[in-house]
Amino acid sequence: MEFKFDFAANKENIQKLREVIEENKGKKGALMPVLHKAQKIFGYLPIEVQSIISEELNIPLSEIYGVATFYAQFSLVPKGEYQIGVCLGTACYVKGAQDIIDKIKDQLGVEVDGTTKDRKFSLQATRCIGACGLAPVMTINEDVYGKLDANEVPEIINKYM
Ligand code: FES
Repeated sequence: MEFKFDFAANKENIQKLREVIEENKGKKGALMPVLHKAQKIFGYLPIEVQSIISEELNIPLSEIYGVATFYAQFSLVPKGEYQIGVCLGTACYVKGAQDIIDKIKDQLGVEVDGTTKDRKFSLQATRCIGACGLAPVMTINEDVYGKLDANEVPEIINKYM
């Protein structure tokens, strides 16, 4: 799913970003703090934002893209209002986590690491969240759903629609 970056609507945010860049310019290891702040300001790291950082910090865009895609805390697409996480740790996997993911994909038409067009839901596969006794586990923002059967998933998601 492509999300178009709106420069006009983000005018203030771009200004904030430029200030953050200015504060960090010339410092060693400036890229990580700038990316963190940018992720906070925009909620994600669109390529347009990466380009501004690249130009201002004089770091190749390919290097920035590499960092932005390597670390799980950065996202290249906007997160949904509701962030669905399905644990793919071993305990959850053997108890059918993949079926849960497939159900969500079908219902919302979203891929793993993707966000629905209306930006309401995003889907992520997570590592073990330490609730293996409840496997398989799905989280929606702060809510945790355990011992799930894939057939229960649509009804749960409907509550957030
Ligand atoms: S494997 Fe899913 S919570 Fe531990």
